[in-house]
Amino acid sequence: MNLRIKSFEEYQSKYQESIENPEEFWGAIAETFSWQKKWDKTLDWNFSEPKINWFKGGKLNITENLLDRHLPERAEQVAFYWEPNDINAEGKTITYQELHDQVCQLSNGLKELGVQKGDRVCIYMPMVLESVVAILACARVGAVHSIIFAGFSSNALADRIDDAKAKLVITADGLNRGTKQVDLKSMVDEGVKNCSSIENVIVLNCINSQPNMKEGRDIDYHTLIKGKSSTFAAEPMDAEDMLFILYTSGSTGKPKGVVHTCGGYMVYTSYSFENVFQYNEGDVFWCTADIGWITGHSYIVYGPLLSGASSIIFEGVPTYPDAGRFWQVCEKYKVNQFYTAPTAIRTLMAHGLDVVNQYDLSSLKVIGSVGEPINEEAWNWYYENIGKNNCPIVDTWWQTETGGIMLSGLGDLSPMNPTHAGYPLPGIQPVLLDADGNEITENEKEGYLCMKFPWPSILRTTYGDHDRCKNTYFSNYDGYYFTGDGAKRDKNGMYRIIGRVDDVINVSGHRFGTAEIEDALNTNEFAIESAVVGYPHDIKGQGIYAYVVVENATNKELSEITASLTESVSQGIGRIAKPDKIQIVTGLPKTRSGKIMRRILRKIAEGEQSNFGDTSTLLDPSVVDEIVKESL
Ligand code: WTA
Repeated sequence: MNLRIKSFEEYQSKYQESIENPEEFWGAIAETFSWQKKWDKTLDWNFSEPKINWFKGGKLNITENLLDRHLPERAEQVAFYWEPNDINAEGKTITYQELHDQVCQLSNGLKELGVQKGDRVCIYMPMVLESVVAILACARVGAVHSIIFAGFSSNALADRIDDAKAKLVITADGLNRGTKQVDLKSMVDEGVKNCSSIENVIVLNCINSQPNMKEGRDIDYHTLIKGKSSTFAAEPMDAEDMLFILYTSGSTGKPKGVVHTCGGYMVYTSYSFENVFQYNEGDVFWCTADIGWITGHSYIVYGPLLSGASSIIFEGVPTYPDAGRFWQVCEKYKVNQFYTAPTAIRTLMAHGLDVVNQYDLSSLKVIGSVGEPINEEAWNWYYENIGKNNCPIVDTWWQTETGGIMLSGLGDLSPMNPTHAGYPLPGIQPVLLDADGNEITENEKEGYLCMKFPWPSILRTTYGDHDRCKNTYFSNYDGYYFTGDGAKRDKNGMYRIIGRVDDVINVSGHRFGTAEIEDALNTNEFAIESAVVGYPHDIKGQGIYAYVVVENATNKELSEITASLTESVSQGIGRIAKPDKIQIVTGLPKTRSGKIMRRILRKIAEGEQSNFGDTSTLLDPSVVDEIVKESL
């Protein structure tokens, strides 16, 4: 915990330093970690292939840095407080020593199953302490983890297992979520049945459901670790060896496996954690994300542990047993830094202040937001009622691909401006480009947000398909990393994110590609063709609007068809991607060359009835009138 910047002036000078001498800047930060062997070259890069190597030749194991390194001074310190879904159930804590021991035991278990350096292991688990143990055991043996959010369907799970050719799944019998229990084991059974790469499934008992165990394939988690040694020599990894794959949605095709590597990711997540949240010795940090998303990877697991923090893992949901749950947990653990998503803030805002005011939130020092733009109303409510006009809001902009927070205030050091994410962290060099790729220098002019220099936790590739990485992120503008977001900069140099400029929609802070949802809809027996767009949604930020052309439907009730279409999305992706609105249409607005004019569909979804701009390239303009009529 020695990476912290302590004033805004220091931030400014560090920023300057990081731009003028990036290698020296990051090299000095990397020195504070424990390496088995020092790197040969700090940075070697070009964005055209792309090739990005940080600390190449350096040998390390990230788990030695987040466990062993801390043991002399933190063995008895709590690493995580686990708060169960059921408010009356007893929580658990795990110290750094206990976490170390459990990680080593499971590492020994993985070794026994034949898991080796470089093997891919899929983790499909609830928000429990063993999920962190599973993640770190993979890292300790040098296996590459691929965590799949437990809300994804068995089909989505299978797609990701196949893409990564994972040999092992670590899962649980089920999970608790509010009033519901989800049967994870059956989802896994269904998902892996056609995955030839899978050799074993490790099953943790979470809900006592005693699932069927497939002989020779399935192993009970506790049986596996029983009697295993609590030491394990961590596998030496090159700084550029893969640490994990995380699947995320893009404009086209199936989700891609974003690859992060060991050294740079370690350096950046820890550095950004300490600085953005201004984490102090003894503080309690709480990030409410799920470990299945990048926010959970970087700011529940890796960043906090690397910095020797104590934090919370919450199994439940913000509204169970009531909308005061977040605040009850903040009071119970005297949370100092609280990090959540705008969609949660808007949901809780709608439940009024009584439920907030029952709790003592005076321990809070910094409150954060992530995942989507935070609207001014939500920002103000959060600032006044949760932060009590006394806590800075860190509006952190970043992406799965960036590995860590890129634009944000640093705790209470930086000036704030509602709805503005703020300044780049040291080492981050954002630019705004116009459509021709020229850098925009004027203030308040919207452009495409790009990065012109690598930072340690930038993605290295997309798993199994380097060209896809190049085409998606490094080809739109030569020499730049393209984020997919539009943004502008105010006169003080603070960035404001406008939102995605591609066919990615951000629903409750979760990313989906419109094409992915269309693919799921198109598997439906009634669907001929579909087009999906995002539209503004009060709580979710964006909602999903699906236009579907159907056949064989004359003798069916409309509600039956929409229910069936919804079910197709639940099965193809998961319930989290269910369309908010489905409109059955007779045709889609297409250009003469057959391209769907989504611009028009987006406007209709927003409630526009005319003024569709230039429609002269439409093959059949009457389709538009019909859709508008049907939408009313
Ligand atoms: C959006 C989540 C505005 C953005 C960490 C980005 C945000 C996408 C913010 C990445 C923010 C994330 N303000 N928009 N503070 N944070 N976004 O990969 O559109 O799930 O490109 O990573 O979320 O989503 P992802």
